[in-house]
Formats: sequence, C-alpha cells, structure tokens
Amino acid sequence: MDLRTTYLGLELAHPIVASASPLCADLDGIMRLADAGAAAVVLSSIFEEQIVAQELAEAAMTEMGTDSQPEAAGYWPPDAGSNVLDGRLEILRRAVERAGVPIIASLNGCSASGWVDFARKLEQAGASAIELNIYRVPADPAESGASVEAAALEILRRVKAAVGVPVSVKMAPFFSAPGHMAAQFAEAGADGLVLFNRFYGPDVDLAALTARDDLHLSNPYDIRLPLMWVGLLSRRIPTSIAASTGVWSGADVVKYLLAGADAVMTTSALLRHGPAYLGTLLGELRGWMQRRGHESVAAFKGQLAAGGQPDEAAQFLRAQYRTILTTYDAQSASRL
Ligand SMILES: Cc1cc2nc3c(=O)[nH]c(=O)nc-3n(C[C@H](O)[C@H](O)[C@H](O)COP(=O)(O)O)c2cc1C
Repeated sequence: MDLRTTYLGLELAHPIVASASPLCADLDGIMRLADAGAAAVVLSSIFEEQIVAQELAEAAMTEMGTDSQPEAAGYWPPDAGSNVLDGRLEILRRAVERAGVPIIASLNGCSASGWVDFARKLEQAGASAIELNIYRVPADPAESGASVEAAALEILRRVKAAVGVPVSVKMAPFFSAPGHMAAQFAEAGADGLVLFNRFYGPDVDLAALTARDDLHLSNPYDIRLPLMWVGLLSRRIPTSIAASTGVWSGADVVKYLLAGADAVMTTSALLRHGPAYLGTLLGELRGWMQRRGHESVAAFKGQLAAGGQPDEAAQFLRAQYRTILTTYDAQSASRL
C-alpha cells in the first residue's frame, strides 16, 4: 500500500505530520514522535518576542561594553551570546541529524520587522521548511481588513526573501475572504498553507474578575471549518495544503485527504494519547484504504474537493446551511 504524499516539495512516507506543540519542543519529544512514525515534525514555535528580546539583550551588552572600556569585551564570558534561541537551534540541528524525517521549523510572529531574518538561521540549522504562524488579533477598530492582509503578506515576503527552503503559512480562518487571502499568500510566494491556525480566546475568572488564560484541546467537531476550506481551496490554490485541527482518528485523516489535503497534522490527539497514537491513526488510515480497495493515497486524495465554479460551491454551502438549520430536530437536543 502506497501512503506517500508530497508536501511543500518534501517526499513524505505518509500524510500524518505532528504539528507544533510542547511534544516538539525538545530532542527527546521530537525523537519519540519520529520513532512513533510521524511523517514529519513541526517544531514548537520560536516567537517574535523571543527573538526581539534576545536582540535587545545583545545590543545592551554590546553598548555596555563600548561605554566602559575597549577591553571590556575580553571580560565577557565566552558563552555571552548563547541563549534560549541558540538552544533551540541546537535542538533543530540534532533533530535533523537523528530523526530521519523532515523537520519543519515554526516561526510565530505578528510584525514585518527584523526578527523574520531569524528564518535564515533555521534554514542554516537544517530545517527542511519554515512554517510561518502569523498570530495577530487586529483589535484596533480603525484598522481595515486590507491593512491586516497587507501586513501578513509583508511578513511572508520577508521570510521568503531570507530563505531558500519552502515556506508555509499557518493561516487564520478569520479573514473576510479566506480563499482570496490564501490566493494572495500563494502569489506572495507561499509554498504551502496550513488550514488553520487555532485561536485561543481568554475566558473570564469570575472569582478574581480577570481574564483567564487556559487551553482546551481541540475536539473532533473542530474539523468542520478547516475541512470545508481544504475542500474549497485544494484544487484552486497552487500550493501544498496541510489540514490542521480536530484530527482525532484515522477517519478524520481520511476526510481531510478526500477534501484534498497533501498532509494532515495533529497535536491534541498526540498530547492526549501520546506519540504512539500515530500508529493508531496510520492503522486506521490503512484499514479504510483496504476496505475501499485503494492501493495508494494518491488514488483518493482530493476526490471530494470542490471543482467547477466557485459560485456553485457557494450556492451549495448556502443551501446546506439552510437545510441544516431548518431540518434540525429540536426534540433530539433534549434527548442528549
Ligand atoms: C499545548 C499546545 C501548544 C501549541 N504550540 C504551538 C506552537 O508553538 N506553534 C504553533 O504554530 N501551534 C501551536 N499549537 C497549535 C497546534 O499546532 C495545532 O494547530 C492546534 O492544536 C490544532 O490542532 P489539533 O486539533 O490537532 O490540536 C499548540 C497547541 C497546543 C495544544
């Protein structure tokens, strides 16, 4: 059975990729994922704020030296430049050497400033590709959608200018026209899109009367929004597409592949069940293919992707929306 797929120009043994999470933050976790069969591993993100803080610290140290005496540099400990980021680069280097599967580095930020040049260091450390997570809440009501889009595209262009390896964008679903935004990312040089990034809104702590940060893992129902967009875009956008969010079973993997995803990412299920759960997902994918008589992933990938005119898809989805709302059996809710 041939499970191979190509994502970002990378040949993957099968489509299931471990997406960014604390499991991919250190060498031990990355190796556990690779040994458990992940086709590729996306490292946990390096954040814009970490890079900027490091640059400021280095600048302050340099200034401190020049303000005192020229010999001051000689007093700095030899590892004065080493830091968290050097540690992350070292993990990346060693993962590339040992994991035997493509290692995708993740950069996470929100502005098009100098920090994006850090992508070059990730490339030099051996990353097979860069995943760019642009996480920004446009909280200013004076800021237009066009300006939000332009800012995101500029970040991508700068990262693309810094590296030669493929770059994917882990997109938010909240653009007013996600399809058009996906097309713009493609035009600006994205080699792939990850649909979608997951947003974590704050809750309210009623005892302390403050905003409360907590994180809930996804659930299988969360597959619906990205599944729709993977299906709508996979034939229309000329980049690789990775589906992300809500993959808890082999059936979810199959659904995303039928919609046209080139790779299918999972985090929550691996956090809950451990890296070995990759074997379960793969076994279920194989089982489904066997039952359906598919010899390869290529034989069914994209079978349910939207083709034809975009208008037809919009009309279909509108009709489906109406049907869902108007045929709902209200009695069934009380039986839950
Ligand atoms: C604890 C935790 C940490 C995460 N860290 C990152 C990260 O560093 N960078 C990133 O792009 N996404 C991160 N994510 C998001 C996941 O990569 C993924 O997009 C999200 O969990 C949805 O996929 P899932 O439904 O398979 O969990 C994190 C998710 C969790 C639960």
